[in-house]
Amino acid sequence: MSERTGWSPDGIDISLPSSARIYDYLLGGGHNFAADRATAEELVRVLPVREMARLNRSYLRRAVLALVEAGIRQFLDLGSGIPTVGNVHEVAQEVEPSCRVVYVDVEPVAVTHARALLVGNPRATAVQADLRDPAAVLGHPETRRLLDPDRPVGLLAVGVLQFIPDSDDPWGLLARYRDALPSGSYLALSHFTPDRMPRAMAAGADIFRQTAEPITPRTRAQVLRMVDGFDVVPPGLVFTPQWRPESPEDVPADPGRANLYAVVGRKP
Ligand SMILES: C[S@@+](CC[C@H](N)C(=O)[O-])C[C@H]1O[C@@H](n2cnc3c(N)ncnc32)[C@H](O)[C@@H]1O
Repeated sequence: MSERTGWSPDGIDISLPSSARIYDYLLGGGHNFAADRATAEELVRVLPVREMARLNRSYLRRAVLALVEAGIRQFLDLGSGIPTVGNVHEVAQEVEPSCRVVYVDVEPVAVTHARALLVGNPRATAVQADLRDPAAVLGHPETRRLLDPDRPVGLLAVGVLQFIPDSDDPWGLLARYRDALPSGSYLALSHFTPDRMPRAMAAGADIFRQTAEPITPRTRAQVLRMVDGFDVVPPGLVFTPQWRPESPEDVPADPGRANLYAVVGRKP
């Protein structure tokens, strides 16, 4: 309990590692507890998770910029995480200040911190909700306040769907979001895969199994099925650093070390 801080909301179990706070620690953030840091260090021993986190975060930035470039002015960010450098509203509003962003996360620290950061920003908000309940997310008063249901949306599911087990049918959930969004909307996602480093990923999954959020890394074919009903835009499904890199230095010698696939699709 000595770790209680001014920024941690009441009622959270700080002894149970959370993916939001593990990711925050891996990215160099300060909103994490000893249990999160210990789990992150265990992960570092079996997988290049720091590099994976950094490459995922820069994919998120490039995907948001591409969507703004394609005319998207409103974003629904599922599993948005603890705000860190390069949040979606910062990236989008820097290019196009009229952009609106609804952040959705199930984790109280992520939502509390996002709300604090967004004070004074009338075009961005944070909702605490479980993405497995599309009706609650889409029908939330904040979502309805900020997102125009008649205009295309940039739906982001970046680094989050591996936390949704097959039994919760992530494919069916994405189809429900897709069906609710107007034509011209986009889906940008990234997802853990065992394809490149199967043994290391299995060891990583064993570590996540001790947290409240076990992971289900998925194959290329399984991830590609998540964009069913969308027209996949170039370069297709690739490892995160290969998705429209801004310079050759953005792509490591072995892009597969990213261990996350990235793909973007447009709803016809
Ligand atoms: C690895 S972080 C990704 C953060 C951000 N999207 C990014 O890529 O930089 C995954 C986030 O998904 C959230 N998450 C996990 N399961 C969720 C669920 N069922 N509903 C909403 N958020 C969820 C976690 O709390 C965590 O903040």
